[in-house]
Amino acid sequence: MDVLIPEAEIRRRVDAIAAEVNRDFAGRPFTVIGILTGSLVFLADLIRLIEHPHQIGLIQASSYRGGTTSGTLVVNDGLLPDIKGRHVLLLDDILDTGQTLSRLVEHLLHKGAVSVKTCVLLRKIGRQTIPCEPDYTGFSIPNKFVIGYGLDFADDYRHLPFIGVLPDDPK
Ligand code: XMP
Repeated sequence: MDVLIPEAEIRRRVDAIAAEVNRDFAGRPFTVIGILTGSLVFLADLIRLIEHPHQIGLIQASSYRGGTTSGTLVVNDGLLPDIKGRHVLLLDDILDTGQTLSRLVEHLLHKGAVSVKTCVLLRKIGRQTIPCEPDYTGFSIPNKFVIGYGLDFADDYRHLPFIGVLPDDPK
């Protein structure tokens, strides 16, 4: 397993993002929404560094099913609390083409969010086909299929505390 981003580096970057969020969301009622399942570890680490009261919600949008190829985006918002009149911070593990994030921003605004800021832990360089500029980005990475810290390959490896690349990169 090649380690692309070690645990300590992730921790430092999550700290820095939390500092920005603490500054930007001071005094605003807001909801942090994690996109299932990949953002769970990032969400758990980030929210514990947020100093202002906030609600948490989850939404599911899957386009990768059991492998590394993109499919149709399926959105499930059954676990979402009421976001009418609230500011939203939408978290995803990784920005690839931009389809997931841009679709979900529209979806959340349609559900009554006052504003939606976006935050991704990783952003693949040169892959965005849909214009989508995250408000907070952890790391820009090369176009490799990555796992760990919430990211999976066939639903495995999510528990790894670092971001890794599988030895035989399946992409
Ligand atoms: P789009 O293309 O919509 O894709 O920006 C975002 C979603 O694709 C998944 N994704 C990955 N998952 N390793 C993963 O485990 C990767 O390298 C990877 N690249 C994209 C991920 O679910 C993300 O939410």
